[in-house]
Amino acid sequence: MDFVQQAGQYRQAAEAAIQALFTPDGLVPDSGIPETLREPLRYAFLTGGKRLRPVLCMAACQAVSGVFEPALPAALAIEALHTYTLIHDDLPCMDDDLLRRGQPTVHAKYGYAEGVLAGDALQAVAFELALRSPVAPAAVCALARELAAAAGPAGVIGGQWVDVTARPPHDEARVAYVHEHKTADLIRCALAMGGIAGGADGAQLAALRRYGLNLGVAFQIVDDLLDADDPAKKDEMGILQVVEIDEAKRRAGALTSEALAALDVLTSGDASRDEAVSLLRHLAEDQIKRTL
Ligand code: IPE
Ligand code: IPE
Ligand code: MG
Ligand code: MG
Repeated sequence: MDFVQQAGQYRQAAEAAIQALFTPDGLVPDSGIPETLREPLRYAFLTGGKRLRPVLCMAACQAVSGVFEPALPAALAIEALHTYTLIHDDLPCMDDDLLRRGQPTVHAKYGYAEGVLAGDALQAVAFELALRSPVAPAAVCALARELAAAAGPAGVIGGQWVDVTARPPHDEARVAYVHEHKTADLIRCALAMGGIAGGADGAQLAALRRYGLNLGVAFQIVDDLLDADDPAKKDEMGILQVVEIDEAKRRAGALTSEALAALDVLTSGDASRDEAVSLLRHLAEDQIKRTL
């Protein structure tokens, strides 16, 4: 299987499992939850999205174990958490955005308080999903701890806090902090959770974390470069407030090389595992050229 097919297979598995959350036996069934709450949850979780974090999570699992299925609940968990951060990020008190993935943001469509509550709900759903992982109890605890660290004040909230509260002039250390925490922590968490679900040893987990951190920071630099022409985003903190465009591109390239170097220790000679390592390699190489 080539890497496009492999990524497509992971994406389809994630989409089907997200759809299944909204069936009678799923976590967001049509009874017991107000229909007016269920609808924004569905809308937020199922409207577009590259599903990068679930794909990374499943690939990490397959890279260390040869199969991706044990990572499916963790893959959905990190996507649920990511989706909640996007809903809140778009709120008027944060970035005040009306469009996400080319569609109205959750608060623009359903209301501000509704956006806050839909985000809160998805954060809880994320933990419920992680706890349902089909792995040994010690690994379930490790997954929940990983998710809590990435979601908490030393993780994405710390990054978002500095992003929205710090006033210019910004310096490089501040931008680096924001990039690492608002973005790279969730990407690294996706990889670490996939590794844990696949029974990774210490060296494999360290490699996945190193790949995730470098990929995550490169991802946010590319995101800042893509936002550069958007007048609505000109006041948001980003790499271009502290370095020139060419230097930002050079850094994204260097971080990608560092991410790729981290993968070397994962090569095993097992065809299924190495296919997933190769997918991780291609994803890092591709994201730097992305236009979305
Ligand atoms: C957007 O992430 C938020 C950032 C951290 C830059 P993605 O670009 O992965 O968002 P979706 O899920 O594909 O829409
Ligand atoms: C979003 O960062 C990061 C989180 C939601 C945690 P941005 O605010 O830079 O991303 P976009 O441009 O809205 O997707
Ligand atoms: Mg933001
Ligand atoms: Mg934003």
